[in-house]
Amino acid sequence: MTTRNVALEANAIVPKRPDAIRIAQIGLAGGIGYCHINEVEKNPHFQLVGGYDLYPQDRRVADAIARLLKSGTKIYRSYEEVLADPAVDAVDICTPHHFHRPMTVAAFQAGKHVLVEKPMATHPDDCAAMIAAQRASGKVGAVQMQHVGRKSMLELRAALQSGAIGRIKEVFLSSLWWRTEEYYGRIPWAGRMKIDGDWCVDGALYNQCVHYVNQMLTLLSPGALPSVARVKNVQAAMYKFHDAPTLEAGDTAFIRGTLDTADAPTITFVGTTCSTEERHQIDIVGEKGRALWNGAGYLFCDGQPVTEFRDDRKEFDGCSLIFNSFADAVRKGFAPITAFSEIQAVTRFINDCYDSAGWTFKKAPWSATETLFSDVIQRVRQHRCLPADLPSRPDWA
Ligand SMILES: NC(=O)c1ccc[n+]([C@@H]2O[C@H](COP(=O)([O-])OP(=O)(O)OC[C@H]3O[C@@H](n4cnc5c(N)ncnc54)[C@H](O)[C@@H]3O)[C@@H](O)[C@H]2O)c1
Repeated sequence: MTTRNVALEANAIVPKRPDAIRIAQIGLAGGIGYCHINEVEKNPHFQLVGGYDLYPQDRRVADAIARLLKSGTKIYRSYEEVLADPAVDAVDICTPHHFHRPMTVAAFQAGKHVLVEKPMATHPDDCAAMIAAQRASGKVGAVQMQHVGRKSMLELRAALQSGAIGRIKEVFLSSLWWRTEEYYGRIPWAGRMKIDGDWCVDGALYNQCVHYVNQMLTLLSPGALPSVARVKNVQAAMYKFHDAPTLEAGDTAFIRGTLDTADAPTITFVGTTCSTEERHQIDIVGEKGRALWNGAGYLFCDGQPVTEFRDDRKEFDGCSLIFNSFADAVRKGFAPITAFSEIQAVTRFINDCYDSAGWTFKKAPWSATETLFSDVIQRVRQHRCLPADLPSRPDWA
């Protein structure tokens, strides 16, 4: 799902199930709000009963409000008003990172289920508070991370668990994104470490790469879903190539680590928003073959034809998978595929990366991005090290 230039889709008249979950959306525009409005309107498991945004005068928010009012959706004047409404079963939180914890905790305290946009939160303590509130409420908490649960991923995961490539020795993750200088100036919290005194840590890891960190950790976790592998140790180096003055939380990270699973594979990971070619790839090396997930899954085993796992396009439709999993969990009382209790490990992993890098970022010249992609990333993978430890170390490292 691309979230840039998303428009409100034409009003779809979709019959809703009689037990549709009555959901209110918090944050109606920005980069993701329209995607959620489009999704909920066409998803028979949900009835969009309410909407709230702190900035109703913003043009895109105003357009969303006009649209929702037309279809009889209530617009609230405050978040407290949303939470006080007994007609709301669940809230869908699409606000910036630093609101995820307070809004989630308040929603559970008001007896609502919560679907919150990624990242779940940007500190493990925030995740712990969200989980404590969830457990006390007995309600469901899920994170919107739309790539998990794709058929291509689940089938590859099952093949790995059945031992298709034997013991897993190594994993290489590259999550390469393209964001411009202007991107980091578009909203006050973009790229920031803190905003109004709250941590938002809007670097490449928490904002963009978080999807594929979760994808990797879920793919390699040996447990039944929901399940995210934990990490034993990490070592990270972080950089800032963009010149954007507001980018404080880093646009590029190199990470080495070991997964805390029985196979204990090593991880070599590069994540960046400086790549003009967007590409995401998880390479898994086993004793008996290799696996790859890059939007489709592949198994390569000696002497056998390549096995391919593809998504069913109808099933993988934007964020439907996570909404459907959330609906199932609310109705049947089991954990959703992106359950808070598991996704907190993704925040812990990224937090460990920041800790390892000492929360510092080396400024590297934008001109060095050319060799970053033509040379450094390949050599980091070949030598399985951080850029500073490469033979003929790049001068910016
Ligand atoms: N899953 C994805 O692919 C994806 C894509 C983009 C963004 N996101 C996530 O969605 C969240 C929002 O990102 P964005 O880019 O849309 O941010 P944004 O700042 O562009 O938009 C946020 C929206 O929330 C509103 N808002 C801000 N503060 C609010 C508050 N306190 N109460 C109510 N409304 C408030 C804004 O007016 C705006 O409509 C972030 O956590 C981001 O990481 C996820």
